Amino acid sequence: MTHSAAREHDHQSPNSSVPILGAVDHARVHSKVLASPVIKGPIIRRPKAVGLAEKFDADAAGVTEMQRLRSQYGSGPVQLKVFPGRKVALLLDPADVHRVLNETPDPFSPASLEKRGALNHFQPGGALVSSVNARKKRRPFNEAVLQTGRTVHSHADAMTNAIREEVDSLRGHIEFNGALDWDAFSLMWWRIVRRVVLGDSARNDQQITEDLNQLRERGNLAYLVPKNRSRRKRFTKRLRHYLELAQPGSLAAMAADVPASTGTMPEQQIPQWMFAFDAASGATFRAVSLLSADPETSQLARKELDQAPDLPTLRAVALESLRLWPTTPLILRETTKETQWRNGTLDKGTSILIFAPFFHRDDETLADAHCFAPELWLENRNDNDWPLVPFSGGLGMCPGRNVVLLTASMVLGELFRNHDFTAENTAAEPLDVEQLPGTLSPFSSRFITKFRNARGAPKSQDQS
Ligand code: HEM
Repeated sequence: MTHSAAREHDHQSPNSSVPILGAVDHARVHSKVLASPVIKGPIIRRPKAVGLAEKFDADAAGVTEMQRLRSQYGSGPVQLKVFPGRKVALLLDPADVHRVLNETPDPFSPASLEKRGALNHFQPGGALVSSVNARKKRRPFNEAVLQTGRTVHSHADAMTNAIREEVDSLRGHIEFNGALDWDAFSLMWWRIVRRVVLGDSARNDQQITEDLNQLRERGNLAYLVPKNRSRRKRFTKRLRHYLELAQPGSLAAMAADVPASTGTMPEQQIPQWMFAFDAASGATFRAVSLLSADPETSQLARKELDQAPDLPTLRAVALESLRLWPTTPLILRETTKETQWRNGTLDKGTSILIFAPFFHRDDETLADAHCFAPELWLENRNDNDWPLVPFSGGLGMCPGRNVVLLTASMVLGELFRNHDFTAENTAAEPLDVEQLPGTLSPFSSRFITKFRNARGAPKSQDQS
């Protein structure tokens, strides 16, 4: 279809329904756009599947397919069928992304059927899967505990203390092995998460992480598997225990302090904090890949370390890692009533999909789509100009973004303070920061480490 024919599509009668994809396009969207996030694991990543997606650069193929759809159908939404009776619309225009995110939760509710199927395995009362009414209590509770509007949380001292201690232990491991790999990094990350969210005594409570991860694996399969009620009961009991302990400096202590009216269900908000924090481990490890490929930025970041915990360059690096490889590739909404679009209407109950990699890596509209460009996040970016939505946007925007950016930037700062990292041994590395791949698995990354002396100059391992 030509561009002018595509534009005609955009101006169909508003009374007709939004265009539905033909059979061939359906098959292409399923295989090139939707299969990758589903197979990689929407709620907990499957490392082997992520490795395969990296091998075939599945997310880059998804972006190309979305560009093709836009040239064929115009920039208005298109509809497809995911399973019988389920209407799904795919957004192709940044302006529509902004509309949907800004008009959340009504008429675009975050609690879509697909999300409920996945998250109800471990947090049926979480804000993200709550009805419009229940959200009115749960969203403000999350914002109050996570202090959404503050760059630096009031518990930052306890957080940075936990981070410094855990990175210090990891350093011991790095120095012994001369290298940093995913397993060691992930072990450290979970210790930080448990300390920050639940309190210091949870540092070694691997059982609670294991329980959550098992429940998340069920979440990956949503409605296809039954709920494991006994595991969820044990998991929730442990969460209540930490809420009661309310250890100073933890988010659990903050949660115990913030007034919660009936129906807020604090213990049902905490699983989201833990599992969302886990996603950040991959993003932070990818940020290590970016920094290791760009010594100039790591040098710049080192100069800011005495401003900790407010580290603007490293925050920008973490954000850039999330732009390049979004950890929430599909942002979902569900229409609570019929909605009008420039190319037709969408029925009530339609699921709306925002495929974030397309909006972050669309090289037909963005000059630097595939470059490492942390400066994007340091400028006063106008959200309406460019739909970078690693944390979603509007009223459903991630309320934990400042807590997680503080954590990620502090971890990066502590790692790079006295060490250089050189990526080795993986398919996609060393990275070319001018032409980055669409998919990058953190699980196979490994870095050779070198010490630096007190003035920050590199020093070889055997000199130390
Ligand atoms: C890299 C890390 C993270 C990313 C990329 C991220 C991203 C997101 C996104 C995209 C959403 C909205 C989903 C939607 O609109 O459907 C969201 C929601 C949410 N996030 Fe995060 N998040 C991260 C970490 C965290 C952390 C660490 C916390 C808490 C400590 C957190 C707390 C929440 C909560 C409570 C919601 C639900 C908000 C609501 O429904 O109103 N997130 N997050």
